[in-house]
Amino acid sequence: MAEDLNIVRGSKAEEYQSLVPQIKGLLTGENDLIANLANVVAALKEQFRWLWVGFYVVKNNELVLAPFQGPVACTRIQKSRGVCGSCWQEAKTLIVPDVEKFPGHIACSSLTKSEIVVPVIKEGKVVAVLDIDSEEYNFFDDSDKQFLEEIVGLINF
Ligand code: SME
Repeated sequence: MAEDLNIVRGSKAEEYQSLVPQIKGLLTGENDLIANLANVVAALKEQFRWLWVGFYVVKNNELVLAPFQGPVACTRIQKSRGVCGSCWQEAKTLIVPDVEKFPGHIACSSLTKSEIVVPVIKEGKVVAVLDIDSEEYNFFDDSDKQFLEEIVGLINF
């Protein structure tokens, strides 16, 4: 496994297309979940420099903070609470262009303006969510959804 990421700068699609095979490489041959989640968020943060990127994992019917990069964050989120808890409940990716307009949004950082949360689904159940926050409004779109869903599907939960 190469230890350095090759960071390509280009369109969003070009950047994801360069990153996806590198994430596959990082995950190959390693079955420790924390190690793999940690490398996935590190790779995403290095490529995209978002404010916050990290996982919350379902444990005992709560979302619990897992590997992330960015400012400190709330540790536990209940089902249907905030964007993460809603993503868990609805089992679908949520794109929030302006977090202040999302009822019940949990503000971990006052700098967050927009957010995307992607569910990790195994055998029909949400086992974790990938949460990404931006300091810019309206930052995430359908191409983020498509590539991030592909990326979380690579992780062996
Ligand atoms: N904003 C999220 C909470 C997690 S932090 O953004 C890291 C939410 O509303 O669920």
